[in-house]
Formats: sequence, C-alpha cells, structure tokens
Amino acid sequence: MIIDPENSSFQDNHKIMIGSILPRPIAFVSTQSKDGNYNLAPFSYFNGICSNPPSIMFAPGRRGYDGKTKDTLNNIESTGEFVVNIVSEDFAEQMVACATDFEPEINEFTVSGLTPETCIKISPPRVQEARISYECKLNQIVPVGNEGPGGGFVVIGTVVLFHIDDEVYDDGRINLDKLNPVGRLAGHTYSRTKDTFEIIRKIKPD
Ligand SMILES: Cc1cc2nc3c(=O)[nH]c(=O)nc-3n(C[C@H](O)[C@H](O)[C@H](O)COP(=O)(O)O)c2cc1C
Repeated sequence: MIIDPENSSFQDNHKIMIGSILPRPIAFVSTQSKDGNYNLAPFSYFNGICSNPPSIMFAPGRRGYDGKTKDTLNNIESTGEFVVNIVSEDFAEQMVACATDFEPEINEFTVSGLTPETCIKISPPRVQEARISYECKLNQIVPVGNEGPGGGFVVIGTVVLFHIDDEVYDDGRINLDKLNPVGRLAGHTYSRTKDTFEIIRKIKPD
C-alpha cells in the first residue's frame, strides 16, 4: 500500500503518524499567561535537540476542530518561558486530565490535583510530583504547515535549569526504573520502559 498525504485528510495522516512514531516521550509543559494564570498540558511530539546548550523541542499543533492555537503556545509567545516536566507512571492519569481543551483561565494544576512548585530562574511553576523538570527559556517558535486545523508549530527552548530528584540520580546518570517514565502510543494507549534490551555500538571503526 502507498498513501500520498496530499490525497488523504489530515486526520488520516495524523493516525498514520501517531501509530508509527512510537513510543513518544511526553513533555508535560507548565506555563503562565501574561495575566498570571497557570497552565499545564502534555505534548508527545517532543524531543531533545542538542546539549550545548541543552535544547529541546516540542510541537503544539493547532486545535483539530477550529484551528486555534493552544494556550501553551500563546503563553510561551507572551512570556518566553516554560517548564518541561517528565511524566512518571504514578501521575500519568493526572497528566491526561490536563489534556482537555479548557478555557485559558482554567488552571490545570487545580483540575488535576498536581502541585505547582516555584521555579528558580523563570516565573512559571514546575510540577512538584515530577522527578525531573527542565526550566526553559524560549529560543524560537517555528510555524509549520497550514494556518488552520492540522497545522502546527515547533517550540524550541533552552534548558536553563534541571531539577532532578536525588532518588533517580545515580552518579551522573538517570535511573530508568526509579524514574519509570511513560510514553505515548496511539489513541488512549501508553507504554512503560520495562522491556528493554542492549545492543553495543562502536562509536569509531576499529
Ligand atoms: C499524552 C498526550 C500527548 C499529547 N501530545 C500533543 C502534541 O504533541 N501536540 C499537540 O498539539 N497536542 C497534544 N496533545 C493534546 C493537548 O495536550 C491538548 O490539546 C491540551 O488541551 C492543550 O492544552 P492547552 O490549550 O492548555 O495548551 C496530547 C495529549 C495527550 C494526552
């Protein structure tokens, strides 16, 4: 089978992508509006970019039903700051509770029962329950695709501070079992990182 994305709907193209870009890490992003309202939402089009300086990206799309930009993007555009919180299994349900398209003035910390904790270098709060949080400053926002439903943006941020729970930090490395991060698959399905295997890689040829 071949599918030309130009001949299928953006919804069908979306289903192919979320069913094959797997598993996806989740950036649980906390922001603050210019009026001071807290916002919290998950984004699984998320990854690291480079480490000097540490830089990450995530992609808040336009809302599929009306093409409007999401509160997270609007807040980052107006303040230039955000936190990426890493999701562990013990608060995954609360994370999903923050993924409803609430009105901008609704505080998803209150909705989910998660705890806002003051950051050090930026104004938005981090999620206290997260074992790892990155305080980030905006590098740039890159618009991608249509200016309507299905289009989106890449938000690139510079990590200005890492918060790491001592429990998950073993001599410079993160302990995967103790972090117990959750990945997103398609639809309502999530994954753990319990079933792992090793392949040794040579960085340089012999
Ligand atoms: C696990 C998970 C991952 C998600 N990933 C994305 C994503 O990568 N991009 C996106 O635009 N929306 C994503 N969503 C949907 C947003 O979280 C949802 O639209 C949210 O209400 C946006 O909130 P905001 O308007 O407060 O920014 C995801 C939802 C879940 C549950």
